[in-house]
Amino acid sequence: MGLTLAQKIIQSHLLSGEMTAGSEIGLKIDQTLTQDATGTVAYLEFEAMGVPRVKTERSVAYIDHNTLQTGFENADDHRFIQSVAKKHGIYFSRPGNGICHQVHLERFGIPGKTLIGSDSHTPTGGGIGMLAMGAGGLDVAVAMGGGAYYITMPKMLRINLTGKLSPWVSAKDIILEVLRILTVKGGVGKVVEYGGEGVSTLSVPERATITNMGAELGATTSIFPSDEITKEFLKAQGREQDWIELKPDADAVYDEVLTINLSELAPMAACPHSPDKVKKVGEIGKMKVDQVCIGSCTNSSYRDLMRVASILKGKTVNPNVSLAIAPGSKQVYTMLAQNGALADLISAGARILECACGPCIGMGQSPNTAGISLRTFNRNFEGRSGTADAQIYLVSPETAAASAITGVLTDARTLGKENPVEMPAHFYINDNLIVPPADESEAKDVEILRGPNIKEFPATAALPQSIEAKALLKVGDNITTDHIMPAGSKILPYRSNIPYLSNFCFGVCDKEFPERCRQNGKGIIIGGANYGQGSSREHAALVPLYLGIKAVIVKSFARIHCANLANAGIIPLMFKNEKDYDTIDQMDELELPNIRTEIENGTAVLVKNLTKGTTFEAEAVLSERQRKMVLAGGLLNYTRENSGK
Ligand code: F3S
Repeated sequence: MGLTLAQKIIQSHLLSGEMTAGSEIGLKIDQTLTQDATGTVAYLEFEAMGVPRVKTERSVAYIDHNTLQTGFENADDHRFIQSVAKKHGIYFSRPGNGICHQVHLERFGIPGKTLIGSDSHTPTGGGIGMLAMGAGGLDVAVAMGGGAYYITMPKMLRINLTGKLSPWVSAKDIILEVLRILTVKGGVGKVVEYGGEGVSTLSVPERATITNMGAELGATTSIFPSDEITKEFLKAQGREQDWIELKPDADAVYDEVLTINLSELAPMAACPHSPDKVKKVGEIGKMKVDQVCIGSCTNSSYRDLMRVASILKGKTVNPNVSLAIAPGSKQVYTMLAQNGALADLISAGARILECACGPCIGMGQSPNTAGISLRTFNRNFEGRSGTADAQIYLVSPETAAASAITGVLTDARTLGKENPVEMPAHFYINDNLIVPPADESEAKDVEILRGPNIKEFPATAALPQSIEAKALLKVGDNITTDHIMPAGSKILPYRSNIPYLSNFCFGVCDKEFPERCRQNGKGIIIGGANYGQGSSREHAALVPLYLGIKAVIVKSFARIHCANLANAGIIPLMFKNEKDYDTIDQMDELELPNIRTEIENGTAVLVKNLTKGTTFEAEAVLSERQRKMVLAGGLLNYTRENSGK
C-alpha cells in the first residue's frame, strides 16, 4: 500500500511506535523554532536539562511577539534568549527581523524535514513541504536536547484542489472555505494534505497561508507537496540545494477526501468570534469598518503586500478607517522599500508597523470600543485584540485593502481588473539580523544574561497516591488558552515571571479564581468540550500548576493544551459520561482516592464528589509514556530522572 506525503516523512523520522492512526509515535525532530513569548520558558527548561549544545540540525529563536519595549522586561527577556542561544548552539533572529513563521519559511524551512515550534502556527512550514507542528515549549526543549517528539499518529485527510482562483480571490479564501466546511474541530487528530491540479496554481506563500490556518482546524499539521514551485521559491531564496521533490504515492490511502473547486470560490470572512463562522463577503453586506490590520504570520508575505499595494496605489484610506500594515519580515519590508510599493502604502495613509506580530497578539492597535476591525490574521477570539467588545472579521489582504479605501466591507472583485503579482526570481537576501551561535569552543565562556524578570518556573513533585481538592472553577465549552492565560500588552512582558502572571489566570471568566487558588492551596478545574483550544501557550498549563491545580476534568481537550497539562504534571481527565459534568458545582469537594495506582495501571479514575455524596469515572487522556511522566510530576522531572540513568 502506498504512503501519503505525511506518512513518508513520519516513516523516515520514526523513533518509536506503530504508524497506525491513534497510536503514540515518537519522531526525530530536525528543526525547532521558538518565539519570545513561549521561548523564555522553553530555554529555562532547556537549561534545566543540562544539555550543553542543541542536538537538532537547526534551532532558531525568534523575537517577534513582544517587541514593544515600554519597560525593562521585554528587553531583558530578549537579552536572556540571545545569550542562551549563543551559548547553546541556536540561531537568534533579532527583533525587527520578522515573524517567526514568515522568516523560517524564507530562510530555514526545508522540504521533508520535521519541525516543531513553541507556537501553534508552526504548521506554516507545511507550505514548503515540511512536517511542521506546534508544540509546548517543554517539547521543544526536549527536542533540542535530542529527545523524541511524541504525537498520536494522525489520520490522513486529503483536500483535492481543482480549478484556479478567480481574480481577487485568494489563498485566505481557500482556507476560510475549508474552515467553513470542517469547523474548528474538523482537523483534530488529522494531517491535512493538499493535492490535485489546483496546487500548481499556488505559490509557496499562498500555500503557507493555507497551512498556517490549518491550526484553526485543530489539525496536527497541514502539508503541501514539494514541487517545481517549491524549487523556484527556494532558488529565489538562494537555497536551491535545500530542495527535494516530495509527493504522495499514487496509491496512497486517505481516511477522508474533500474536494474544493478553486474556480467556484468567492471572497470570504470569518465573523466574530470564531475562525469557522465563515460567510461570503457578499452575504455580510456593506458593513461599516473602523479599522483594518494587514499582516501576521498568515498574510504578510511579499506577494500579499504587493497585492495590497496594487490596490492602495494612488488612493486614500477612508477617513473613518485606521489602516495598519505590518510586513512579515525584514526581507519583505526591504523589497517593498526597494520597488516603491512601500511609498504607495504610506502615501495612501497606511500606518506601517514593525515586522512583528503586533496587533495579532494584542500588542498595540486595539480597536475602538465596539469597533469593527477587518484583519488578515488567523484568530478572532473575543478580547484577543485588546478591546473586549470589538468585532473582529478575518479576511484576505485583498478584501482588507479594498475595504480600507471604501470604509465598508468590500468585495475586491468590484475593483475591476486584477494586477497579478509575479513571484520574484530573487528575493532580497541579507541575514544580518540573524545572529549565529558561538563556536563550541567559545560557548563555555558565554555568560547568560538574566534580568530581574526571569523567574524560575514552578517546581513539581511526584504524583501522590490520592488527591483531595475543591473544584475551584467550573467553565463551559470551547475555553481557549486565551481565557486561561490572557495575552495582551499588559501581561505578555511577564511570560518569564509566572508568579506575576498567575494574577490574571482565567481573569476573563472569573477574576476571583487566582485568589481562591491561593486560599485553598490546591484545586481541580471542571470544563466542557474542546477545552484549551487556540494558541499553544504553555503558560496556560504552567500558571495553573503554579496556582496548585492538580487535575482538569473536561468533556474533551484540544490536543496541544492536553499535552501541555501532562508535561506540567497536571492530570488531564475526561468524563467517561459527559452528563457527570452537570452533577458538579464550583467549590464541591472532590477526591481522587486511588489516582496514583490508576495512572500506573492505566485504568479508569474514580472521582468522589464528597459534597454531593456521588461518584463518577473519568479517563486519563495519557499515553503510556505520558503516564510515566505524570507519575514523575511532569516532563522535566521525567527527563531529568531518565537522563541520569
Ligand atoms: Fe504572531 Fe499572530 Fe502568528 S501572534 S506568530 S502573527 S498568530
